[in-house]
Parts: sequence; structure tokens; C-alpha cells
Amino acid sequence: MFMDMKSRVFCWWCVYLFLILYLGTATGSGMSRRNLEVMKHLNRLNKPAIKSIESPDGDVIDCVLISQQPAFDHPFLKTHTIQMRPNYSPEGIFSETKKVGSSEEIIQMWHMNGRCPEGTIPIRRNREEDVLRASSVKRYGKKKHRSIPRPRPAAPEPDLINQNGHQHAIAYVEGDQYYGAKATINVWDPSIQQPNEFSLSQLWILGGSFASDLNSIEAGWQVSPDLYGDNNTRLFTYWTSDAYQATGCYNLLCSGFIQINNEIAMGASIYPISSYLNNQYDISILVWKDPKEGNWWMQFGNDYVLGYWPAFLFSYLSDSASMIEWGGEVVNSASDGQHTTTQMGSGRFPEEGFGKSSYFRNIQIVDESNNLRTPKDVGIFTEQSSCYDIQLGRNGEWGNYFYYGGPGRNANCP
Ligand SMILES: *[C@@H]1O[C@H](CO)[C@@H](O)[C@H](O)[C@H]1NC(C)=O
Repeated sequence: MFMDMKSRVFCWWCVYLFLILYLGTATGSGMSRRNLEVMKHLNRLNKPAIKSIESPDGDVIDCVLISQQPAFDHPFLKTHTIQMRPNYSPEGIFSETKKVGSSEEIIQMWHMNGRCPEGTIPIRRNREEDVLRASSVKRYGKKKHRSIPRPRPAAPEPDLINQNGHQHAIAYVEGDQYYGAKATINVWDPSIQQPNEFSLSQLWILGGSFASDLNSIEAGWQVSPDLYGDNNTRLFTYWTSDAYQATGCYNLLCSGFIQINNEIAMGASIYPISSYLNNQYDISILVWKDPKEGNWWMQFGNDYVLGYWPAFLFSYLSDSASMIEWGGEVVNSASDGQHTTTQMGSGRFPEEGFGKSSYFRNIQIVDESNNLRTPKDVGIFTEQSSCYDIQLGRNGEWGNYFYYGGPGRNANCP
């Protein structure tokens, strides 16, 4: 190809100008480097979709081939053979989950606009603004440290109350070996005062001490403006094997959990939601350890086996759990020097009961012979019962249950 001298000179000039501009913005503002980092992270997280569904709540759900899900970025899972079903499921006393006050099925909002084909799994697509809300790209999808609900046997001491911390109202069992847990959780949409606070209702499967090597598997519903950019109530899971430090994440935001189900998306909005003195909706969650392979499985409702956390992710939990907790957690950032008004559960205290206060019913544990059992010696814990409280109960239909939650700031919780 012929090229005269003039255009060659002109082109070099272009490149020179481009370099000056590019280096200028990249080093000058620091923004571009962060953007570049965010883009790279999004490229890693968001997998190629064979179909995408727009949910009415603004989410995009990508249907990703099972073999291309984030779990398989993990070096230990490169040669893993997916287990398409558990070898055993726990057998128990409350296998049914009867709807209370409504015959409608609980679904996820994106189902209104489509479904994912077999052989794929639905994954909520991560947006640039989702990652930008995190304190750093590395912390995106991770819990802040020190969010471990640690029941204290002693009476509450005022100086133990952490005004800047996480607050809980939980029921728990400890002192045995546990191989899983189950609960049916009332679903509400608590209001959140500050975008950096959250409100969640979940179960915890815990192994090890509360030191730096705590193992935890968690599942339930949450409202977290920081993580999702809205106030919707969403299904979530969490895992860590080092007390929320380097390992683990929410949902599929890191490699670990292997999903096999094509109907339920982690992190997607739940629909419908309970309303005051009106229809009540609840979700059942069961997490148990497969005695044969040692993997921890999760089931949502009666029909959806979501997938599993491979045993190798954990240290203590590769054997069994030493503690199970059920209940609510909120972040109290006390940003205006007062207690947060972020609600837990329905935002109402346990005394108000059904249709007003939020509940967990049929709380159960899985024992060493893979049976669902009513837990014995259930303890309760809350940092400040005047802000968020819990009340245990027991009857034939609901088994072991409790009401929990509260409004946060009020006359008795300034
Ligand atoms: C979430 O709710 C709070 C108050 O409850 C409101 O101030 C905020 O604008 C809401 N955020 C979004 C993204 O809707």
C-alpha cells in the first residue's frame, strides 16, 4: 500500500495526542483506573447469557449455561463433576409447608417476564453502579466484618451495646453436632433509614469459634440498598470460612456455591410480600449436609433444590455445625447520633402477633442420622430488646416458632 509522507506525519501526531489525553485522564483523576477495575470485575462476574429476562423491578436476569456459572472460576472446581441432585434429603415431621392466609404461590418478580431454559441457571446481572456502591471492588458482595451475632449468656451490659454495630433478635441452639437447619420465614419489606444499612431475616449454620476462622452458611431474605440499589425484599445466601474476611460472598458474587436450579435466582426480588393485617406470605429454607459427599445443600420451598456449597470450601463445616441461629439482623449506623429507624421483620414488636409482627415457624435442625428434629433448649438473644425483640412459642401446627423484630428508634430506644 502506498502512503505519502504527509499523512504518515499526521498519523503520528494523532497517536501522540491520544497518548497525552489518555495518560492525562488515567493518572490525573484516578477515576478511569477505578472504572477499568470495575469493568474487569463485571466481565469476570457476568457470564455469557443464552437468554436474558428483564424483570419489572429493573433487574436483568441472565440465563447462563450451568457449566459456565461463577463457581467454575474456582481453581479447585476446574475438574469438578456437578452433582445434579443430593444423595439424601432429610426426612421430617413438617414436610408440608401450608400457606397461611393465602393460596397464592410465592414467586420471584422476574418470573412475570419469562423463565430460564433447562440446562441454564438464572443469575442477576451485576451493573456498574452496583459495584461502584461498594467501598472497593474487592469488597463488592461481601459482608462487613464483625456482623456475627454472638449470643452472650450474661445479662446485657450497657457498655457492650455497640451503637455503631449490627443488632440482632435471634433464637439459637448450640452444644451439639448439627447437620442442617430449616425454617419457614414470614416475608416483609422493612424500611431502611440509611442506604448503608440493611435489614435481613435468615438462618445461620455456624462452625468453629467466633474467632477469625468462623465458618458460616446463611440464607433468607434481605433489604439492602447498598448491595442492590433499591429497597426490594430479596432472596439471598451468604457463606464464609474465615469470619467474613477473605472468603465468601452473597449469592453468586464469588465462586463457591454451585447452582443447579433454573427457576430461582439468588438476589432476585421475592413477590408477593406480606402486608399489615392482610395476606401473609412465607418462604421455607432448608440447608443440610449430604452425608455421602459432604456438600451443604440448599432447598427453597418444597420444590426448588437450588444447589450446594462444596465441602472443601469449609474447615469446621466440612464435619458438622456447632451452632444454629434463626432471626433478624439490622445495621444501626446511628448516623444522626440516635438509634436508626431501620426496621427489623415487619417493624413491629413480637407482642403484636400474627398479621402484624414477623415470624419464623417450624424451626428445625437436622441431626446426625439425617432427620429433621425439633430443636431442644432454644435460647434467645437480642442486644437491646427495646429496639428489636424476640418471643418464642410452640404449638402443634407451627412447631417451634417465634415472633421477632421491631421499629428501631422509639421512645424506649432513643
Ligand atoms: C429506600 O427507602 C428510603 C426510606 O425508607 C428512601 O429514602 C429511599 O429513597 C429508598 N431508596 C430507593 C432506591 O428507592
